[in-house]
Amino acid sequence: MNVPAPIAPLVDQFGRVHNNLRISVTDRCNIRCFYCMPADKVQFLPRKDLLTFEEISRFVAVMAPFGVNKLRLTGGEPLVRNDLPTLVAMLVAIPGIEDISLTTNGILLAEQAQALYDAGLRRLNVSLDALDPQKFHEITRREGYEQVLAGIEAARNVGFDPIKINAVSIRGMTESEIVPFGHFARESGCEVRFIEYMPLDADNRWERDKVLFASEIIDVLRREIGPLNPMGTQSPHAPATDYEFADGRGKIGVIPSVSQPFCDQCNRFRLTADGKLRNCLFSLDETDIKQLLRSDAGDSVIEQTVRDSLAQKWVGHQINSADFVQPGRPMHSIGG
Ligand code: 5AD
Ligand code: SF4
Repeated sequence: MNVPAPIAPLVDQFGRVHNNLRISVTDRCNIRCFYCMPADKVQFLPRKDLLTFEEISRFVAVMAPFGVNKLRLTGGEPLVRNDLPTLVAMLVAIPGIEDISLTTNGILLAEQAQALYDAGLRRLNVSLDALDPQKFHEITRREGYEQVLAGIEAARNVGFDPIKINAVSIRGMTESEIVPFGHFARESGCEVRFIEYMPLDADNRWERDKVLFASEIIDVLRREIGPLNPMGTQSPHAPATDYEFADGRGKIGVIPSVSQPFCDQCNRFRLTADGKLRNCLFSLDETDIKQLLRSDAGDSVIEQTVRDSLAQKWVGHQINSADFVQPGRPMHSIGG
């Protein structure tokens, strides 16, 4: 589709242009990764507080003329929301939307891959932190390992490309997964991206000492498997640094969100499942968009509200400073 350049992009006070919207479609999840959710007794949002597909689509259609062209659907676990392919088809049809992707834990992927593809989705990130089934259980506190692997396989057979695996890296827990994931990347054709563990858990268990750093992961892979070359082909806004094994087999990404934050290149903002706008993953304030969508507010009021929120966006997160304050919502309720 030929779309004219945006007239007035969404720029913040540091000159960062926001074209990338992450939309959480539910705070529910069918597993319980400890870095994201409490083990049990989770208070989920009542159904009536979730934005409807029509409300989400309206918001995206209002934003697209201002340069929002990249969307990611997240959760909780987005595939537990009924009928997600319908939302995908609605978003694909919005003029200006060039790229839609989904982050899923893969458990329901085998059964939904074909419908998602048919709706127009082509790119997937599957969260999988361990190839060892016991370690998977230790992290997620639920069953489901086999379903995730079956989901990845089904998505590949349907034609999804690329499929990226997101693996959170936790010191004292996932060191043993680095080399198996290196081999998995070489054999499966999926890029494996190691993400440094961030303070977004529900139980406040995060400590800096538990972050397994991106640089250490690359060192282990180089030593144990073979030379890795930076690919250098990415957009400056990509949070990951991508590498390829020198023999051309296997791509590895690292997201050094703690050791080397990419905040100065950030082009993202987020809409939570209950319709709150968050200008940063770590922001402590939110802006209520649902209330506007459920009143007779016109498009220009919604646009101005988003601009006002982005005008308040911080220069970056303060994970590495003593004053860091963890957001009140854990990750499953913010949206990954
Ligand atoms: N630190 C790093 N990554 C996280 N994710 C969820 N919580 C955290 C955290 N505390 C990632 C998951 C998933 C995506 C939704 O966000 O691995 O891929
Ligand atoms: Fe669920 Fe994703 Fe959170 Fe894990 S990281 S508990 S899969 S929402």
